[in-house]
Amino acid sequence: MVYVPEFHLGKNLLDNGMTKLLITLVLIVLTPMIPLYILNISSPIWLPSKISESRKCDIFRGKWIPYQSTPYYNNATCRDIHDLQNCMKFGRPDTDFLKWKWKPDECELPRFDSEQFLELVRGKSMAFIGDSLGRNQMQSLQCLLSRVVYPEDIISYTEDARFKRWFYVNYNFTLASSWAPHLVRTIDTDPDGPTYNRLLNLYLDEADHAWAAQVEKYDYVIISAGRWFYGPQVFYENGKAVGCHLCLKNTNKNLTMFYGYRKAFRTSFKTLISLARFSGVTFLRTLSPAHFENGEWNKGGNCVRTQPVSKGEMKMEGDDLELYLTQVQEFRRAKREGRRRGLDFRLLDISAAMVVRPDGHPSHYGHWPHENVTIADCVHWCLPGPIDTWNELLLQMLKRERSRGAIQ
Ligand SMILES: *[C@@H]1O[C@H](CO)[C@@H](O)[C@H](O)[C@H]1NC(C)=O
Ligand SMILES: *[C@@H]1O[C@H](CO)[C@@H](O)[C@H](O)[C@H]1NC(C)=O
Ligand SMILES: *[C@@H]1O[C@H](CO)[C@@H](O)[C@H](O)[C@H]1NC(C)=O
Ligand SMILES: *[C@@H]1O[C@H](CO)[C@@H](O)[C@H](O)[C@H]1NC(C)=O
Repeated sequence: MVYVPEFHLGKNLLDNGMTKLLITLVLIVLTPMIPLYILNISSPIWLPSKISESRKCDIFRGKWIPYQSTPYYNNATCRDIHDLQNCMKFGRPDTDFLKWKWKPDECELPRFDSEQFLELVRGKSMAFIGDSLGRNQMQSLQCLLSRVVYPEDIISYTEDARFKRWFYVNYNFTLASSWAPHLVRTIDTDPDGPTYNRLLNLYLDEADHAWAAQVEKYDYVIISAGRWFYGPQVFYENGKAVGCHLCLKNTNKNLTMFYGYRKAFRTSFKTLISLARFSGVTFLRTLSPAHFENGEWNKGGNCVRTQPVSKGEMKMEGDDLELYLTQVQEFRRAKREGRRRGLDFRLLDISAAMVVRPDGHPSHYGHWPHENVTIADCVHWCLPGPIDTWNELLLQMLKRERSRGAIQ
C-alpha cells in the first residue's frame, strides 16, 4: 500500500534527471492507488489509519479469536435491552462468550467507536426494516452508542413498540425500526391462531406499506428477513393466489418458501429503486443463523454452548444456505439495477461469522426460570454478545461510504 509521505525526495536524488523522470512515472502509476482519504482534506482526522486496509480486506471472512476485555455495555448501563435478549438480567452464568473478537483474515476489525459512529451519521437517518432480529441489531447499536448518549423517543409516530423512532438530539441523527417480518404486505388469516404456525397471505408484489410509505427520507436502510418464511403461507401475485407453502387444505400449486423469499426481496429492492426521492444506501443484512441442538426448536431443542465452534464444525447448510444464496442473488440484481439510478446497495454479510457462534443466543436466559416458557430462543442474540459485531462491521461500511462520498 502506498503511503505518500514516505517518499523522501533527497536533493541528490532529484539532481539526477533520469531519477526524476522515474519518480514522476512511479507517481503517475501509483496515484490512482493513493487512498482517497488523503485527497479529501476536509475528512475528520480519524478517517486515515484503517481505511486503506479495509478497502482491500473482506471484513466478513475471518475467525473469532479470544479477546480479553469488558463488554462495551451491560444490563445495567444500557436500558434499551429487550427482556428476551437480556441474558445477564436473567442469570446467564457464563461470560466467556463475551470474550471473543472477530478477526478478518486480512486485516483488523477496529473496536466500535461510538463517537466516530455518531459523527458519521450526524444529520442523517437510519432505518432497520425486518423482523425482531433487525430490532435486535438496532438495540445493540443503541447500547453501543449509549456510551456517549441516549436518544430521545420523541418522534415515534405510533405507540406501537414495533415502529420506533429515536432521535439523537446533539447529532441530529434519527434511528428507526419498522416491523416487516415478510417485507411484503401480509394478511394474517387467523390472528388468534398459534404464533408460529398459522396461515398467512403474502402479497409478494406489494412492499409492506408500513415501511414503504416512510422509507423515502432515510439515508441508510438496513433490510433483512428470515425465519418467518418457514411458516405456512399463501402467495399472491397480481392479487391472485399463485401458490402455497405448507398449506393443509391446498388447492393451489405447492411452492417453496424460497419462492416467496426471493420475490419478497425483489419487490422490496424494486420499491426502493422506484421511490423517486429515495437517495439512501441500502444494506442487506444477510441471514442470521439459528442454532437449535439436542432437538428441534419446538421439541426441546436448545443452545447451551459457551464458546464459538471451529469453522468446519458448523456451516451454513440446507434451507438456511438456500435462503442465504437466494437473498444474495436478489441483492446482486438490485445492485445492478440500483446503479443505473445512482443508488448503492451493500451486503452486510454476517452469516459466516455468526454460524460459528451457537454460544451467542439466550436459550432459556430470556425470561425468569419460573415463567413457563418451553421453547428456547436459539434465534435471537444476547445483548451484549456477538451481535455487537454486526455494528462493528456496519461502522466500517459507513466509513467506506464516507470515503466514497468524498470523491463524488
Ligand atoms: C443485571 O444483571 C444482574 C445479574 O447479572 C442482576 O443482578 C441485576 O439485577 C441486573 N440489573 C438490571 C438493571 O437488570
Ligand atoms: C438535521 O438533519 C436534517 C436531515 O436529516 C436536515 O434537513 C436538518 O437541516 C438538520 N438540522 C440541523 C439543525 O442541522
Ligand atoms: C402439496 O403438498 C401437500 C403436502 O406435501 C400435498 O398433500 C398436496 O397434495 C400437494 N398439493 C398439490 C396441489 O400438489
Ligand atoms: C407449563 O406448561 C406446560 C405445557 O404447556 C403445562 O402442562 C404446565 O401445567 C405448565 N406449568 C405451569 C406451572 O404453569
